[in-house]
Amino acid sequence: MRITVIGTGYLGATHAACMAAIGHDVLGVDIDPDRITALTAGQLPFYEPGLGDLLTEQTQTGRLRFTDSYEEAAAFGEVHFVCVGTPQRGDSGAADVSHLDAAIDSLAPHLHRPCLVVGKSTVPVGTAARLAERLATAAPVGAGATLAWNPEFLREGFAVADTLHPDRLVLGVSAQAPQAEAALREVYAPLDPQPPFVVTDLATAELVKVSANAFLATKISFINAMAEVCEATGADVVQLGRALSYDTRIGGRFLGPGVGFGGGCLPKDIRAFQARAEELGVGHALRFLHEVDAINLRRRERVVELTTELCGGGLAGRRIAVWGAAFKPDSDDVRDAPALTVAARLHALGAEVSLYDPKAMDNARKLQPQLGYATDALAAADGAHAVVLLTEWPEFRDLDPAAVAAVVARPVVVDGRNALDRERWERGGWTYRALGRP
Ligand code: UDX
Repeated sequence: MRITVIGTGYLGATHAACMAAIGHDVLGVDIDPDRITALTAGQLPFYEPGLGDLLTEQTQTGRLRFTDSYEEAAAFGEVHFVCVGTPQRGDSGAADVSHLDAAIDSLAPHLHRPCLVVGKSTVPVGTAARLAERLATAAPVGAGATLAWNPEFLREGFAVADTLHPDRLVLGVSAQAPQAEAALREVYAPLDPQPPFVVTDLATAELVKVSANAFLATKISFINAMAEVCEATGADVVQLGRALSYDTRIGGRFLGPGVGFGGGCLPKDIRAFQARAEELGVGHALRFLHEVDAINLRRRERVVELTTELCGGGLAGRRIAVWGAAFKPDSDDVRDAPALTVAARLHALGAEVSLYDPKAMDNARKLQPQLGYATDALAAADGAHAVVLLTEWPEFRDLDPAAVAAVVARPVVVDGRNALDRERWERGGWTYRALGRP
């Protein structure tokens, strides 16, 4: 099939490369000419394991191309996937859907023959119905340009695998355009094995995505709330979480206690979901998400308190090594990253911060240029009064505690992700402190 993918960020670039990999002819569209030049040359403007190779491979086959022309996109595609970002608005928790509106407004006037436009972005419920009308009104082909919603659940770090082997595909189609289901099934027919399909209306499809992220955020904040209680009682949240995980009704995934969730999705999605619920008059139903957010943000402050306490009550003149800046391992994404937020706070309180992250250094430097940046984990630890681990990259886990102890001023470690082997570090002479543990 001839497919376009509008917006070539984490979601769009991955979707475009994967659709080419399963045999479609794909045209990626972006308004940023530098991005188009880079992608055309097979260069990925961010870090995502496996995606760079796939991009090079698929651009070389000629099945994957990029353009900044909506006219070319409209002439080329039978199915247009819209993958632009919906960030948090500057003035409230609501989602900013202006990029989506702009994408539809740019594409629609060029649509002269019947086609399907498929939204994949995470949106406030009701957006798809609104865009369907906007599309049909602005397109010369009128109601021949139909809209469907097909939310994306990929995780950064596993984007290619999640796209090629999704655990489910949700197809939101309107009663006026039931043919959209057949077209989308044809797009995904090459996936092997075929995932379960949930075919539903537009509003349900939009809600599946935000409710999935709200549930995941709630699970993380639940265990982090237990960590707060553990801290007040001397109990151990790691053992508590392990014991809970054996109950198959609860399960152990997304029950990892630590400095909490960040990134370009979970934090802004729970805020946008609450804002939308308020607009719909059901704000009370999602008020618990306010607590989920608050628990999550308190964990960042707790790491700062713990580090301050371990430095004798003040951070002025103290050298602190921060391991990690990305919001999670296998990513260079620092959007709303707990690690970078904590590092900036430590600096603001007078600490001399030396930060190292295997992949996120450039992005971190752009956002927080005032911090010190080291060439590796050991260099960051050089002369440190405390080492704070905030992103659980495997290379930090694998470090030899004795080797790190040899370069620090004081062997004190705050494990903000409950990622290190506590006994090993204590045997190596370290004072070990973690969130939710005695
Ligand atoms: C998330 C959803 O998982 C994905 O389905 C959706 O499409 C986009 O949003 P992503 O943002 O890539 O994906 O990150 P995810 O792997 O979900 O992690 C989110 C955050 O939660 C990270 O900061 C991570 O460190 C944190 N986390 C995760 C925990 O603190 N504890 C856990 O147990 C799991």
